[in-house]
Amino acid sequence: MPTTATAHTNIAFIKYWGKKDARLNLPTTSSLSLTLSQFYTTTTVTQNTDKDQLILNGELADPTRIHHFLNTLRDILGDFPAVTVTSENHVPTSAGLASSASSFAALTGAVTREMGFDLSNQSLSRLARRGSGSASRSFYSHFAVWHAGMDDTSSFAESLNAPDMPIALVVAEVSTAAKKVSSSDGMQRAITSPNYSDWLNSSATQFVDMQSAIQQSDIEKIGALAEENALAMHALNLTARHKPFTYFTRETQQILALVSDLRRQGILAFATMDAGPNVKIITTLNDAPEIVATLQSALPQIHLEIATSGSGIVYD
Ligand code: PMV
Repeated sequence: MPTTATAHTNIAFIKYWGKKDARLNLPTTSSLSLTLSQFYTTTTVTQNTDKDQLILNGELADPTRIHHFLNTLRDILGDFPAVTVTSENHVPTSAGLASSASSFAALTGAVTREMGFDLSNQSLSRLARRGSGSASRSFYSHFAVWHAGMDDTSSFAESLNAPDMPIALVVAEVSTAAKKVSSSDGMQRAITSPNYSDWLNSSATQFVDMQSAIQQSDIEKIGALAEENALAMHALNLTARHKPFTYFTRETQQILALVSDLRRQGILAFATMDAGPNVKIITTLNDAPEIVATLQSALPQIHLEIATSGSGIVYD
């Protein structure tokens, strides 16, 4: 019997940006994210007698990365047969979001169930971390924290018990013409920044402050902390001693300027960016339409979507 799992993507408000162990994907800092309802991956795992295969959005795709990850699971859990992984990504490239978080979470959930394991979300998050660090946070609804930990056992994500709040994210996809630097490569460069130890310190403080802001449903404080954290992350890329770079394009900068303008007009709007030029604007359900309208009229070529808080992993 095939097994199907659906996991949503997540956006880090306190970022993971650096590894202290690249093989185990142990991060240098703890991170915190919001799971998004609109963007998800549904993955079905079927056993086969041949070799690991990937069918992505209806087409045969290169299985190298998932084969490597499945072999890591085989080493940890004990050997299991070859599988066919059929994945539908509802994380449109047009939304400019990375799908690795939802993909590796859905795959981890589906393959372990298919092989007869009944694992807690905490155990699943440790396994998914080996495929993509941010995937560790995609098992949970609403807010999740990934504790950096000291070793494989202590580095896991869990749900943050948080009140419901009218938080929304405006996702602005800009041109992806800029050359892509993978997140692993970007992190390796960023840790060579002379500012890296300051980043570790400020991230630890922001991680604590962010949790208080969430408990108080203080969306303005959540946004302000997330923007500060994201800008510091991107400053590390610019100040890296080894191959400095930026993910920002001219449109990224234009959107950042519009976000500050909106704030001056009394709209709740704060920006966060990941390993690419797209901007996600943290706001309220109330203010989101006005942000969309402003960005759409200033930059008609960009694609905009409003996302809200999403659910944890589900199995069919
Ligand atoms: O999970 P990875 O290896 O794709 O790294 C994700 C890094 C960021 O998205 C930039 C930050 C984060 O915490 O998700």
